[in-house]
Amino acid sequence: MLNEVSMSVSELRGSQTVPFVPGADASEVAKPLDCPVRTSNSVGSQAVLVAREICKSYKIGGEQRWVLRSVDFHANAGECVFLSGPSGSGKSTLLSIIGCLLEAESGQVTIMDRRVDNLSVSQRTLVRRQMIGFVFQRFQLIRGLSAQDNVAVPLTLQGISLQEARLRAGDLLRRVGLEMHRKQLPTAMSPGQCQRVALARAVIGSPKLVLADEPTAALDGKSGTEVMELLKELVTATNSATVVVTHDPRIIRYADRVCEIENGRFK
Ligand SMILES: Nc1ncnc2c1ncn2[C@@H]1O[C@H](COP(=O)(O)OP(=O)(O)O)[C@@H](O)[C@H]1O
Ligand SMILES: [Mg+2]
Repeated sequence: MLNEVSMSVSELRGSQTVPFVPGADASEVAKPLDCPVRTSNSVGSQAVLVAREICKSYKIGGEQRWVLRSVDFHANAGECVFLSGPSGSGKSTLLSIIGCLLEAESGQVTIMDRRVDNLSVSQRTLVRRQMIGFVFQRFQLIRGLSAQDNVAVPLTLQGISLQEARLRAGDLLRRVGLEMHRKQLPTAMSPGQCQRVALARAVIGSPKLVLADEPTAALDGKSGTEVMELLKELVTATNSATVVVTHDPRIIRYADRVCEIENGRFK
C-alpha cells in the first residue's frame, strides 16, 4: 500500500504550518518579469513560474526579520535556473514559497498563468501534485517502500492504478540506470542512487515545474555530476522549468541562468 508523500513545509523546516489565506482574484494572469540577475544565456520564452514582489519575514525572539524583500523571479519552460547565495540568504524560503509549501507575507506567485499564492491548503496540495516535482537534499524517499513504489507514488496520487504506476516507474528507473535496484528499499541504496530515485519520482508525472533544493549537497562529486546530468536530461524531455537551489560550484555549468540572492534580494 502506497502512502501519501507529505511534501509539507514541516519536512523542510520542522513543525511550521501553512495557514489558510482566503484568495483574491485567482484569474489574474501575470506577465513574465526579468529578475535582476547574472545571466549566462536565456532559454525559451514561455514563463511557467512568475513570482512578483515576494516578501517574507520570520519572528525571531519577538523581532521581525525580513528574509525576502520584494523579490521578483521567473522560470521559463525548458529553462534551468539556479538560485545561489550564501547560507541563510533566503534560497530555500523562496523555493518553498514558489513550491506552494510556504506562504509569503505579500506578493504573487503564478504557475502556468494561474495564481497559486491565494489558494486554500487543499487546492495548493493539488497544485503541487499536478504541477510540481520536488527534489530534496536528503532525498525524502519513503523508507518502507521500494525504489519502484517511491517513484510510483505521484502517479497513484493522481488516480492512476498501482499496476500502471509501477510499470511507468519501472521504465523511468531503467532510464536513470536503476532497473536492477527497483525492488530495493532506500536504506539499501547509496546516496547517489537514492537521489536518482528521487529525480525519477520528481519527474514521473511530467510536472511543469521541478524544484530542487541543494540536490547534490549530500553527494560526492561524481554522484553529484551524474545526478545533474540526469536531471537536465529528464527535464529537457518534459520541457519543465527547473529551479535548483545550490551553492555547489561543481554544478554551476548546468545552469541556463543564475540568480544570486543576498540578504533577501537579488544582486
Ligand atoms: N521557520 C523559520 N523560523 C525562523 N527563521 C527561519 C525559518 N526558516 C528560515 N529561517 C531563517 O531565514 C533565513 C533564510 O533561511 P533559508 O531560506 O533557509 O536560507 P538558505 O536556504 O539560503 O540557506 C535564515 O536566517 C534562517 O535562519
Ligand atoms: Mg537552504
